Amino acid sequence: MTTDLGPESLTAAVVGSFKNTPDQRLKAVLESLTHHLHEFVREVAPSIQEWEAAIDFLTATGQKCDDVRQEFILLSDVLGVSMLVETINDEETPDATDSTVLGPFHMVQSPERVLGENISAESEGDVCVVRGSITSVTGEPVPGARIDVWQANTKGFYDVQQPGIQTIGNGRGLFTADEHGEFYFRSVIPSYYPIPTDGPVGDLLRATERRPYRPAHIHFNVAAPDYMKLTTHIFVGGSEYIDSDAVFAVKESLIKPFTTNADPEAAAALGVAAPFVEGVIDIVLHPEARPHEDSNETVKEIVR
Ligand code: BEZ
Ligand code: FE
Repeated sequence: MTTDLGPESLTAAVVGSFKNTPDQRLKAVLESLTHHLHEFVREVAPSIQEWEAAIDFLTATGQKCDDVRQEFILLSDVLGVSMLVETINDEETPDATDSTVLGPFHMVQSPERVLGENISAESEGDVCVVRGSITSVTGEPVPGARIDVWQANTKGFYDVQQPGIQTIGNGRGLFTADEHGEFYFRSVIPSYYPIPTDGPVGDLLRATERRPYRPAHIHFNVAAPDYMKLTTHIFVGGSEYIDSDAVFAVKESLIKPFTTNADPEAAAALGVAAPFVEGVIDIVLHPEARPHEDSNETVKEIVR
């Protein structure tokens, strides 16, 4: 019966419409989406005008997207959905370094750099050193790991936000960990900054009197053969907004102090003058699941 459907039978009819979906995961996702979406609408009971305003908001969100702007990801970020997805997936790899959101500013290829290079040569501010190690959850170093980093400058802007002021590649670098799985580079301590507010997401923040700021951080994407790729940040300890990140992405384990190191030998080894400010981050990767581990049950079924 698909006529004269009431609020409850309509939900059942839509769920039933997916019964022939061959992909069982897609079927389950669509059924759940229908249940939750319909429950939400029943609870909120929007007027027709409110429903139209919601459609206009989502339309504007899509229209704001282009090659260098992803307003839908930003919407997911400010609603905490991006971090919820990250956190749920992190539960699979509890011994690895926590992950956080990718964010919208990883849109250009980072320049390949040698260990020790300054990624922020154009940025004003005192030079700092960021160094650390890449290891496996079992403690072995991961030599040759690829470490892609990107950050804002001391005024809170990424290169892509300041054409004509910053060259594309300033604040970015792609490094290869040495034979001990270690890396270091020079940079400046980035500033906190506001997420883009010139689109529908900005309208939402203003309408709800929320602040757009993210605490100071440096982004990391770390990849190595046979390991799961990690997307994370380090947050600068003591930064403003560390307790009120607009995208809910701060994890205690990722807050690192930037401290002064007065050791002349350490300075000489890193190619800087003493004293210098440094932040240390040791990243732990989880091995990639091997196909046979995942399909163990299936294999047993077949053998039986
Ligand atoms: C960022 O850190 O680059 C970022 C993350 C989420 C939303 C906006 C910016
Ligand atoms: Fe960022």
